[in-house]
Amino acid sequence: MKHLLSVEDIPQCDLIKLFGKAAELKANRRKSGGARPLDGKTIAMIFAKSSTRTRVSFEVGIHELGGYPMYLSENQMQAGRGETPADTAKVLSRYVDGIVIRTFEHAGVEELARNATVPVINALTNEYHPCQALTDMFTVLEYSGRLEGVKLVFLGDGCSNMANSLILAGKMCGLEVVISSPSGFEPDREVIARAQGNGKVCWEPEPFKAVKNADYIYTDVWVSMGFEDESAERLKTLAPYQVNSKLMQAAKADAKILHCLPAHRGEEITGEVMDSPASIVFDQAENRLHVQKAILTYLFGGI
Ligand code: CP
Ligand code: NVA
Repeated sequence: MKHLLSVEDIPQCDLIKLFGKAAELKANRRKSGGARPLDGKTIAMIFAKSSTRTRVSFEVGIHELGGYPMYLSENQMQAGRGETPADTAKVLSRYVDGIVIRTFEHAGVEELARNATVPVINALTNEYHPCQALTDMFTVLEYSGRLEGVKLVFLGDGCSNMANSLILAGKMCGLEVVISSPSGFEPDREVIARAQGNGKVCWEPEPFKAVKNADYIYTDVWVSMGFEDESAERLKTLAPYQVNSKLMQAAKADAKILHCLPAHRGEEITGEVMDSPASIVFDQAENRLHVQKAILTYLFGGI
């Protein structure tokens, strides 16, 4: 049974096939007669956190591949009242053909996957956001025509779900990933250890030094979902890591801006930079749809 809990679940040798499928699906989206690998299949979509992009792109993508997306709000399920992920997985596997889940603890998604007899896709946990990071690699490939040796600098919370997934995706794709964050928000040591290999990853707490020669500058909200209690402290500590025009001047002249969105203009990024020609965040958001359709096709044996 193939699952996607972390980017590492896609073997490196399948990544190029996955990105090729995403490009094909993107080019042919409005043409009739496309493949329907989810024909007659129902995919449960469990969400314990808010979502705009992930929910809508998965619903549309599942529909376009011939399947039925069933949205389930976790707090309206028995899982919200203490039913275990294992029991939830065993029951849902009798009804549906796949499970997409966005929740808090990654361990809960691992338990769900261990007990499911259908593919499970992680649609974001506190620790990882693989669908976003794979989309980001695809977007870099579209813009740069290569991944190997591209320098991507992530600024902000260096031990967030996005930082973790970008570090791991960067390793698999041969990018140079620099995480620029203050002490207390430095990258997870265990994730860094897993990232040794193909690419290059490092932590640079000085943001102006970090962005030198950067091809891509990436940021994310300073207060991730589930960390609202730490808001005041995070906004204060992460303020020097704002992506603004002064910081952009220290990167390559043609550096591009990435942001998984939602953006909080005036916090992690200024409105001026977010809405500048260097910003490719809406192309990046669109690509969620194409890449997730490729992921579904891959997991359901269509690649
Ligand atoms: N980037 C992302 O996952 O967005 P949503 O929270 O809107 O799904
Ligand atoms: N790090 C953010 C990503 C949102 C898509 C969060 O978890 O809220």
